[in-house]
Amino acid sequence: MPSTVLVGAQWGDEGKGKITDLIAQDFDYVVRYQGGNNAGHTVIHGDKKLALHLIPSGIMYDTITPVIGNGVVIDPRVLVDEMAKLEAQGISCERLVISCDAHIIMPYHIDLDGASEKRLGKNKIGTTRRGIGPCYQDKFSRIGIRVQDLLDEKIFRQKLETALAEKNEILTKIYGMPGYTVDQICEEYLPYAEIIRPHMAETAHLLNRAYADGKNILFEGAQATLLDIDHGTYPFVTSSSCCAGGACIGSGVGPKKVDKVIGISKAYITRVGSGPFPTELFDETGEKLCQIGGEYGVTTGRKRRTGWFDAVIARYATDVNSLTDMALTKLDVLSAFDTIKVCVAYKADGTTYDYFPMQQSVLYPKHVEPVYEELPGWYGQDITGCRSFEELPANAQRYVTYLEELCGVPMSIVAVGPDRDQTIFRGWSSK
Ligand code: IMP
Repeated sequence: MPSTVLVGAQWGDEGKGKITDLIAQDFDYVVRYQGGNNAGHTVIHGDKKLALHLIPSGIMYDTITPVIGNGVVIDPRVLVDEMAKLEAQGISCERLVISCDAHIIMPYHIDLDGASEKRLGKNKIGTTRRGIGPCYQDKFSRIGIRVQDLLDEKIFRQKLETALAEKNEILTKIYGMPGYTVDQICEEYLPYAEIIRPHMAETAHLLNRAYADGKNILFEGAQATLLDIDHGTYPFVTSSSCCAGGACIGSGVGPKKVDKVIGISKAYITRVGSGPFPTELFDETGEKLCQIGGEYGVTTGRKRRTGWFDAVIARYATDVNSLTDMALTKLDVLSAFDTIKVCVAYKADGTTYDYFPMQQSVLYPKHVEPVYEELPGWYGQDITGCRSFEELPANAQRYVTYLEELCGVPMSIVAVGPDRDQTIFRGWSSK
């Protein structure tokens, strides 16, 4: 049975949660492979709404084993809190498996994230201030602390001492903040170890055996293509490999075992945090997209920046992720517009780009002029009740097929509302 990677094809918040939730039942394992509690989506369970930040959404189904892979960074406070909230709602966390190799977010990572943003001032990244970047920094500096280190107090203390020798200098001398003692952190973190211990496993082994046994695996990407540390709009990115390739690194399952890659795109585009955004709308159209689309972050509550669909980005996402399918979300939001624009290329300094330009400065308003195609809309027609492609107004059908042509991959899933059943399947198969 095949495995599928699900990735955001824009700047995040594309509705990955809804699509994961929809297709997850076809899978035996749902694996987070990067990021941490900077992600967030709301899942509906019966009459309850739950915001998940760290635990894979497969937790909602008792036929699925949810896995937090080695590429994830784990804040144990958040993990334990999320587990408790799920249990309180009657959702068992017993099946949750956590990689021993995943790195742990420490209190000083969170302090340093905030302090660094403050120091950057107007050049700040706009991070979620969850300590994600500083934790990955330590991973690559090889002074990170992993989940398995919690198993042995002596090792945990030793590693903490090494890390604190540097962190306390930075906290106190550069940022004028208080430092930490080893005891202080041990007192808080070692009890977490007792809760996490039964869930710890060698997850690469587990997943490779599962694949060999014909199990279906879904790799659930967090953040998105343009927030990827390598392929995103650096430095306004997150600190992990969000793209499909990251699924292999962050889980220990090799690339020959990835069979499908589905990219998720909104029918328009949004971004939170700083950084270039060629189709950003600064006028009332942008505000209307924000209000009708309910564009406020689940994790930080921040208002999202909004713009028209950008096909240059969609093609780029198709390339760097090897997309086999695309899911288009929030098509219903566009019912509020007479005409709809799609960016097909960029014009900048006398050059036309139908691909992502080499120099990022091209993407800023000072240089870039998006080349738009303006399509007739389906103004005022409520499409939230449509359940087949044929039921959509002709102009909505045309919009979807036009995007499909521009991106070069089938739009196999189209979402017309937030609920699970407000979805049109156009040939999607996880088989
Ligand atoms: P960090 O991941 O907290 O370091 O933030 C780095 C950048 O990624 C910032 O622009 C954040 O707003 C953005 N970011 C991180 N997680 C998400 C997400 O789940 N959705 C959208 N943007 C995100």
